[in-house]
Amino acid sequence: MIIFDEIANTFHLKNDLISCVLSLHENELMMSYLGAAIDNPPVYHWNDPHDSFDLPNDRRPYACPTDGNGDYRPAMVRVRDANGQRSTMLRYVAHRIVAGKPSLEGLPATYAYKDEEACTLQIDLMDAHSMLMVTLSYTIIDGFAAIVQNACYHNTGETPLKLENAASFCLHLPGRYDLMHLHGAWARECAIERIPPATLTRVIDSSRGASGHEHNPFVALLQAHTTEFHGECYGVNLVYSGDFKICVDENAYDSTRIVAGLNPRTFEWNLGAGESFQAPEAVCVYSCHGINDMSQTFHRLYRTRLCKGYWRDRVRPVLINNWEATYYDFNHEQIMNIARSAADAGVELFVLDDGWFGKRDNDNSSLGDWTANKGKLPNGLEALAKEIVDLGIGFGLWVEPEMVSPDSQLYRSHPDWCLHAQDRSRTQARNQLVLDMSRTEVQDYVIDAISVLLKNAPISYIKWDMNRNFTQVGSAALASMQQGEVSHRYMLGLYRVLSVITDAFPKVLFESCSGGGGRFDAGMLYYMPQTWTSDNTDAVARLRIQHGTSLCYPICAIGAHVSAVPNHQTQRNTSLEMRGHVAITGNFGYELDLSAQTAADLDQIRQQITLVKSLRETTQRGIFTRLLSPYEGNITAWQFHDEKRVILCCYQTLAQPNPAPFTIRLHGLALDAKYRCQDGDIVSGDQLMHAGIRCTFPQGDFVSRLIVYDRL
Ligand code: DGJ
Repeated sequence: MIIFDEIANTFHLKNDLISCVLSLHENELMMSYLGAAIDNPPVYHWNDPHDSFDLPNDRRPYACPTDGNGDYRPAMVRVRDANGQRSTMLRYVAHRIVAGKPSLEGLPATYAYKDEEACTLQIDLMDAHSMLMVTLSYTIIDGFAAIVQNACYHNTGETPLKLENAASFCLHLPGRYDLMHLHGAWARECAIERIPPATLTRVIDSSRGASGHEHNPFVALLQAHTTEFHGECYGVNLVYSGDFKICVDENAYDSTRIVAGLNPRTFEWNLGAGESFQAPEAVCVYSCHGINDMSQTFHRLYRTRLCKGYWRDRVRPVLINNWEATYYDFNHEQIMNIARSAADAGVELFVLDDGWFGKRDNDNSSLGDWTANKGKLPNGLEALAKEIVDLGIGFGLWVEPEMVSPDSQLYRSHPDWCLHAQDRSRTQARNQLVLDMSRTEVQDYVIDAISVLLKNAPISYIKWDMNRNFTQVGSAALASMQQGEVSHRYMLGLYRVLSVITDAFPKVLFESCSGGGGRFDAGMLYYMPQTWTSDNTDAVARLRIQHGTSLCYPICAIGAHVSAVPNHQTQRNTSLEMRGHVAITGNFGYELDLSAQTAADLDQIRQQITLVKSLRETTQRGIFTRLLSPYEGNITAWQFHDEKRVILCCYQTLAQPNPAPFTIRLHGLALDAKYRCQDGDIVSGDQLMHAGIRCTFPQGDFVSRLIVYDRL
């Protein structure tokens, strides 16, 4: 899978779907090619023009660009040496080709099932002056059109260095591309934007302490003619949950560079003599068959080689969460009423959301005091959990362990355990402060607090929330020269906590959340295989949010619930059927008071749950295809298929007077496969894909159709 040609000085990573070529030019490492699989590496001549004002370095495709040497495009590396200077020149010193994919110490990462299915190229580049050595790693995995990169920074000298930029990933492509990315805000996450090429550097980043609602750590570069089904595209995604920066630079020489990694705005690292710094991993997926194909590669890679553990290959339970049913205002009996109706309707897991602990009746207090609120739960949490489990369903619990309320026992005992800047006021958001997860004693406190909960009560699911961005990012435990390390040390601490807890309780299903999708990223999915996608549960708004999220993240990661109407975020009324048809395309659940439904609605809910259970193997683990986009028209259509069936989900946002039937063509099926439709008709794959299906919607706004074809 990896060939080193000593004469041509090229490294060629190749499987049946993708090739990546790196080459040495006067001992500098260039990225020569990344794209469709080719048998032989391309031949390039790095002759630089003689009569140019510009330095030649400014047009070379460096695999690890640095600052200070006449390459003015975004760089991966900026290091301050013992003289306080920042010119770095990296030259090849060695390489290794190793079987499999080495894990990354303390960081989330994709993995290989066995050494034979993957191969990793590690190339050491050295700056002879500062003695900084950068090891670039490139992994190729059989059957995936993906190259996974990371960079490790070593101080091989005897004097300390300061890393001011230590990125993970660099890609060079000839030509110009449309840029597609996911932006948003709270309750409007993962909106798709496609921007035509421009000669400038575009930055997608976060310095909020989480990957954030505003920009997901994902970009795709598309050719002008690339669509969902045709054309080339490159997707880049960071496996990291904190501050990041992705630069897409298009220059006057008609080439594109992407650099991705930690955000230098909030990052510094002191690299003592002999020390190493491991930067997070980035995944690059290539497709020559359009955007859907790129997404499907991300989905398969993340579902099977990023998510791990007991729940990786299991269908996820139908759950009910009491947040929108009660908010903070509940008691034992109300919860039991909802849980009883849920169990009766076929729900498999009850999740108790915020408000169950300390003296928490609103968001003013108690984060950090993880013992039952005796006013609401006089018998305690354990008794409630047991009573719910006795109904034959699981019990799940909401926690927000990275936070502390100033009004809490924890804060009163440890006022220095939160992120803060010495002698400055501490900015509160949602009346809370952020615990300093860079400190080992804080990590241990969180591990202990959550472990006690999980040991004492029969809890089979945790919703791990995180509801504010960082301010005054300082740590009372670090020396002044290390304060620039706090943001990343926080993430390392959080990852340690998640690793310890998820290893200790392997059968507990963890769902991450950050005010909805404020930390929907591959880093979190490594520890917690599903994410609460958005606090916006409106079915119509969810079409855009889930469509966007699916660009990079698998369906089995996308939490989607049926909630009450009028919807609490938009005040929109949609039918129970439409809400069910939208939620079935994610990890299905309810977020309403089931004990207050009419008999007719309960009946419909029972049928919905039966349907979800019969289809979830396909929706959660099958192939997902976007057919029609809510960003482009009034009709959205999504398809799921596997060996057993095809499911078509269509949604019409606004009613059309005197509507014509619409035709929709399915995708990716075997031409000769035979399917039975719900009405008994037998159809073939070629009919569904070429002739398509002619459909109508029921009259009215916000309507949907779900059609299932069982394979014969
Ligand atoms: C934000 C989450 O996204 C909601 O689902 C809910 O859990 C609240 N936090 C509780 O405070």
